[in-house]
Amino acid sequence: MAKQRRLGIGIDIGGTGIKGGLVDLDKGRLVGERCKVKTPSGAPIEPVLEAVTTVLDEIRAQKKAPAEPVPIGLCMPSIVVHGESRTAANIDAEWIGAPARTLFSTTIGQPVSLVNDADAAGIGEVRYGAAKGDTGSVMVITLGTGIGSALIHGGHLFPNTELGHLELDGHPDYERYASARAMEREGLDYPEWCKRLTPYFRKLERLFAPDEFIISGGVSKRADEFLPLIDIDTPILAAKLKNNAGIVGAAALGADGWD
Ligand code: BGC
Repeated sequence: MAKQRRLGIGIDIGGTGIKGGLVDLDKGRLVGERCKVKTPSGAPIEPVLEAVTTVLDEIRAQKKAPAEPVPIGLCMPSIVVHGESRTAANIDAEWIGAPARTLFSTTIGQPVSLVNDADAAGIGEVRYGAAKGDTGSVMVITLGTGIGSALIHGGHLFPNTELGHLELDGHPDYERYASARAMEREGLDYPEWCKRLTPYFRKLERLFAPDEFIISGGVSKRADEFLPLIDIDTPILAAKLKNNAGIVGAAALGADGWD
């Protein structure tokens, strides 16, 4: 009999889109289609819960979806401590202090795991992507609307590092100065942007001395154009799972029963 593949569902809640899919947990790949809806305006709790249900229904309606329940993991742009969302980046402030995991579990009708979005992307890259098999210390930085971070050593995640908010060179919240959104907003070209990113990565190098940095987020598609311009000593690589890293990592942590 053919070995049954292990499946999970991952859902990535972002400021602009809520996307999810069925994930082959052995390969770290999406099975079937990626399902996506627009994030409801301002991302308050109730409409987000409804949107997540829509995405989940779509995933489950696919031909490839199994009849039996599979583990579910979600991620969102928030500090998440044992299921409680403690901050709200690009989502409504009513998430701060909310029992987010319980809200999702109750709405979905099944226990779920919930983690920070960059942590999910980090686990995705370490288990299946650019840092697969690397047992040392890996720092995954997501460059998008904000700057997210994941710190993983020996495959184990130290969650909620939130290193996008470092104060550096007189900038009280560095992500506002150096995220991909800041680059677009200010019309910076890659050399100008990387002049801002170099001191940031140098600081991270000094603080954590990781074995490697992995750059995730939409911009990782064009990594060969800007990564060489970031002048640091630590190897810096582009993410491999691209926009699916959060979905895949959330599904993997869901299958682990991450608390
Ligand atoms: C948030 C993080 C999030 C990152 C990427 C930051 O603004 O504070 O929680 O991981 O954006 O979405």
